[in-house]
Amino acid sequence: MKEKLDELKKRLGVVADLQRAGALLGWDQQTYMPPRGAAARAEQTATLNRLAHEHFIADAVGALLEDLQAYAAQLDYDSDEASLIRVTKRDYDKAKRVPPALVEELARVTTLAYEEWVNARAESNFKLFQPHLEKIVDLEIQLANCLGYRERIYDALLDQYEPAMTSAQVEAIFKPLREELVALARAIARKPEAVSDAVLRREYDEQKQWDFGVAVIKRLGFDFERGRQDKSPHPFTTGLALDDVRITTRVDKNFLPTMLFGTIHETGHALYDMGYRADLERTPLEGGASLGVHESQSRLWENIVGRSRGFWTYWFPRLREVFPAQLADQEVESFYRAINRVQPSFIRVEADEVTYPLHIMLRFEIENELIEGKLQVADVPAAWNAKMQEYLGIVPPNDALGCLQDIHWSNGYFGYFATYALGSMFAAQLWEQAVGEVSDLPVQIARGEFGDLLAWLRAKVHTHGRKFTLDELARRATGAPLRAQPFVAYLKRKYGEIYGV
Ligand code: CO
Repeated sequence: MKEKLDELKKRLGVVADLQRAGALLGWDQQTYMPPRGAAARAEQTATLNRLAHEHFIADAVGALLEDLQAYAAQLDYDSDEASLIRVTKRDYDKAKRVPPALVEELARVTTLAYEEWVNARAESNFKLFQPHLEKIVDLEIQLANCLGYRERIYDALLDQYEPAMTSAQVEAIFKPLREELVALARAIARKPEAVSDAVLRREYDEQKQWDFGVAVIKRLGFDFERGRQDKSPHPFTTGLALDDVRITTRVDKNFLPTMLFGTIHETGHALYDMGYRADLERTPLEGGASLGVHESQSRLWENIVGRSRGFWTYWFPRLREVFPAQLADQEVESFYRAINRVQPSFIRVEADEVTYPLHIMLRFEIENELIEGKLQVADVPAAWNAKMQEYLGIVPPNDALGCLQDIHWSNGYFGYFATYALGSMFAAQLWEQAVGEVSDLPVQIARGEFGDLLAWLRAKVHTHGRKFTLDELARRATGAPLRAQPFVAYLKRKYGEIYGV
């Protein structure tokens, strides 16, 4: 069996190399590639992706996985070997079930849909995008039927981004959360004058912002010997190897949070990608467990740590040294309140911690209804606006600020959105556990010490790479499945105090 396992690892190593090479081309495309390089780059990327896919779904890989099943069954479930065989089989079966013709058709339809979505959003004209979205919903239903599911058709799509998570589980978590958040957001909305964020909109030199951000993330544990940071229009993280993890950020001269919290967010992703055990490298177990778990790491650092009073107790005096004129009239407390301003808004990516999950629930519900045939594409704008009114108490004046705002549907990313909110919740659950296990964690953070928190996350989450699902990780790290309660308690405590509600 040892020989077969070695043979499997050898083949998977080749797949990983091809995927990482493709990722490097993608990183370059979004950072340094000259504009006219795009056409050639599209071919190069497509070739590498195809090669990686072909190597992965080779019959030889399937045969090795079959031969290794009995062996894996005798091993400890949590062992590297059993996990490698289990997770690879899961990926392999999924990759095999989708006919290449459907993959091609989806690629073709979404490429055109993306172009038309850009126009539709610019003109705020849903009718332009509607026929494309109808085709995409059709194809997503076909895709879900190919992938297979036990209870509900939407489960198949969700499983692509959050393995083993079901619609019913997500609904059970979202329902109580929605009631709590709607009530909290309403109470806060009655006090719009309680917090001002005007200080964040003064003019802040771009280079000084960049340098401050670098100082912050170095202290959080981002290792510039094993990673780098560059600029891009949309911040992202890409892990090219355990010792080569790249993040990007953007800087807005007139809005401090763009760089500050964008950089901390991506650093959360990067610390995860720098933290799995070296033995897992060049196998399907490298990287992060799922999108939801990845987002738990970025949001824990960005929001729970980076938007805390303790964090700014340490960092605010340093920030004021960099920007003495802009921050002369500020103290830790006023700055802390400014970065935590809550306001119902139309655009998801600009939403605060309290209202953000409501944007996600709305999308999750609409996607479910579309895929289950309960909602027609033509009725999406009306459904969207009704839910905005119900959850946030505001109605977008047009579809550009409503159902046309996100890129996901034009790309065929159905099943993706829920992972953002699952990440926020898992972050709070992990934090609650960490505070219980690591003595004086909040005190450490107020002293600018982050090593114990990182070590805890490394041991409980990062080290496992992709071995476990979100549910398996939650049970191992916190002794319980994913729960909304720690997140609700965190929000109520924090924003109840800030807003006096
Ligand atoms: Co993220």
